[in-house]
Amino acid sequence: MKRLIVGITGASGTVYAVELLKKLHELKTVEVHLVMSTWAKKNLALETTMTLKQLQELADYTYNINDQGATIASGSFLNDGMVIVPASMKTVAGIAYGFGDNLISRAADVTIKEQRKLVIVPRETPLSVIHLENLTKLARLGAQIVPPIPAFYNHPQTIQDLVDHQTMKILDAFQIPNENDHRWEGD
Ligand SMILES: Cc1cc2nc3c(=O)[nH]c(=O)nc-3n(C[C@H](O)[C@H](O)[C@H](O)COP(=O)(O)O)c2cc1C
Repeated sequence: MKRLIVGITGASGTVYAVELLKKLHELKTVEVHLVMSTWAKKNLALETTMTLKQLQELADYTYNINDQGATIASGSFLNDGMVIVPASMKTVAGIAYGFGDNLISRAADVTIKEQRKLVIVPRETPLSVIHLENLTKLARLGAQIVPPIPAFYNHPQTIQDLVDHQTMKILDAFQIPNENDHRWEGD
């Protein structure tokens, strides 16, 4: 059983987190530790029809964003990595500068120091030099940057198709077997 930390921040695209949590719940092969920022909760209500309770029920454990004493704030808590989806530019900046002022940026900081897998799904457009430099720094530190950029070779027809593709890319990053979307099989 893999053990994954899922952080959700207040960037647009909460639906990507919803789908990832649904998929992980269905797979039943991953223990999910969920932490959401205040703005992630606001965007969940703004952008989806899912309630906070319904979302939290998809996780095995949930934590308060201000609980710096939570297990996931410590390097001694063994896990297979962390994904932040979607990741706001504020959280990206905090992680890039080691500013662990909440449980998401602290858990990400710990993930980097313990050299575990950190996957960041940044969402902003246009991207400023500040954003690009922070993301570049994190990529150099070993984080995998997986922006929600759709592919069109698989002929997506619906928003769900686009979200499914992104979910596949995140699961792939953690080598979690899935066939969430069509893969390119050559022309
Ligand atoms: C509806 C809405 C959409 C937002 N979308 C983005 C976004 O796509 N990217 C981003 O970096 N910030 C976005 N923000 C701003 C962040 O929510 C804000 O910077 C917040 O402080 C992030 O805090 P957090 O990272 O702790 O969630 C959005 C805010 C709102 C209300």
